[in-house]
Amino acid sequence: MRKPLVAGNWKMNSPDESSKTLLENILHDSKMLDSILKEQENASAIDIALFPPSVFLREAQEILTGSNLHWGTQNVSAYDEGPYTGEISASMIKNFGCDYVLIGHSERRCLYEKLELDQFVLDQIVAEKYTMATRHGLSPIICIGETAEDYEAGKTEEVIARLLDVLIKHQGAKALSQTVLAYEPVWAIGTGKSATPEWAQEVHAFMRERVAQSDTETAESLRIIYGGSVKKENARAIFAKPDVDGGLIGGASLDVDQFIKICFAAALKEAG
Ligand code: 13P
Repeated sequence: MRKPLVAGNWKMNSPDESSKTLLENILHDSKMLDSILKEQENASAIDIALFPPSVFLREAQEILTGSNLHWGTQNVSAYDEGPYTGEISASMIKNFGCDYVLIGHSERRCLYEKLELDQFVLDQIVAEKYTMATRHGLSPIICIGETAEDYEAGKTEEVIARLLDVLIKHQGAKALSQTVLAYEPVWAIGTGKSATPEWAQEVHAFMRERVAQSDTETAESLRIIYGGSVKKENARAIFAKPDVDGGLIGGASLDVDQFIKICFAAALKEAG
């Protein structure tokens, strides 16, 4: 069985409480969640990962080291080192004790889109970052999702297949076993309009099948999480779907109560 993952992407938000307090509160409540889960017959262990802005990485490392929680960055450079102003390399990230890194989030892709780069070129950049992350022992969470326009035009599968094929071409399908895929439809991010559980399941099954065409074993073990307006109210129904292995949470990850309840929903996945 795949271990569910719930990842909190803080984006460029300063939490209402200080970042230190938010990290401490999440840690505290996640420990309470752990003890509740131990008592709960139909609950399974989950992974939790936090993605604060990089300026808070030192705090994350100090507070979370030795706990069950993981942390990571919201981006990584495609280069090892050099004159890349504003970028952070995979080895620097690793030095902060990070296990994971987000790659290809649509809120970063759109920065490149302003340069009017072709989508295929953007997918290549994502693949280069992916290669860099895995080379340094980081687990990438690679985000992919269609815009509202692509959704209306029925191009969801085309958009997703294009990136998956590029990733597979770069490192082979086996390398995806170190990776998490995040389906994040752009129209669902920060809009309050989440995908239905049925739609998420359909797209996740398509993603798994696409990887299975190259490697069935990797496809079976690959975690595919859903992101886009996940809240405590809809998490359980979305996570209950067989190919949804947890969530990538934006706004709700800044609220300890919401976030921990979403984690709880992931732990109850097998209970349906
Ligand atoms: P929201 O949960 O705020 O919709 O954001 C989702 C997201 O972009 C996570 O990476």
